[in-house]
Amino acid sequence: MSHTYPVYRDLAGQVALVTGASSGLGRAAAIALGQAGVRVVVNHPPSDDSRGRALAVVAEIEALGGEALAIAGDVSREDQVDGLMAEAVARLGTLHLIVANAGIERRSAVEDMTLDSWKAVIDVNLTGAFLTARGAVREFLRRGVPAAGTAALGKIVFTSSVHETIPWAFQSNYAASKGGIALLMRSLAQELAPRKIRVNSVAPGAIKTAINTDAWSTDEAREKLLTLIPYGRVGEPEDIAGAILWLLSDASDYVNGTSLVVDGGMLLYPSFRGDG
Ligand code: BGC
Repeated sequence: MSHTYPVYRDLAGQVALVTGASSGLGRAAAIALGQAGVRVVVNHPPSDDSRGRALAVVAEIEALGGEALAIAGDVSREDQVDGLMAEAVARLGTLHLIVANAGIERRSAVEDMTLDSWKAVIDVNLTGAFLTARGAVREFLRRGVPAAGTAALGKIVFTSSVHETIPWAFQSNYAASKGGIALLMRSLAQELAPRKIRVNSVAPGAIKTAINTDAWSTDEAREKLLTLIPYGRVGEPEDIAGAILWLLSDASDYVNGTSLVVDGGMLLYPSFRGDG
């Protein structure tokens, strides 16, 4: 059954690129945009498995009456990002809405963390966000006018994390990448606002996706996780997709350089819940 989102009429007819859209938060964002009448590029990592999952997302969007296509591309590779942007523009005319979402985790104690593991996370999560945003900005500037009836020339939303703020033991590479996104996002927002390009982030807490299955899929793990979430439930991908839709719509036209935390209160120092 499809999720019901608020309707932002200005979104219909625009073109979106969602990176890492074959699973998790990207998948939910792509489907939400498709339901909103946005034409969606479902980017996925270049593997057969991911292609299969991306095509399933395309089929799901089409079944809801929307339009989508799948394009492969490793966001950490400059040639592949530029190639996927060029293909998207060739096939759909332009891009208006960007969800720079692709992200990975590689857990390890720092003394065991290989340079490969450090680099893999920084390359996908941070360099990938930069390459995606850079390609998007080039296309927004090339197009030069907003989509008919809309306010901004283009909009970029990064998928950040509560770990842009909360330090994360054994995930120092991941936390560093999200901390990097926080200032990448704010710097780009400052730089691009005069050109009518809006840049913001969504900062999810614990959401049920494949990236953190271990943290929520057993009763024991879920109970432990819930001690960190004052609102008392683990988030759903649709909680994040709804926030992304709003950030991409004209309903948030005056929102620039903000990281919208969607975490059920994880950032509220939950260990102080009692009497402190
Ligand atoms: C991570 C998840 C984690 C959550 C809260 C997210 O950014 O990807 O694995 O559950 O932060 O710690």
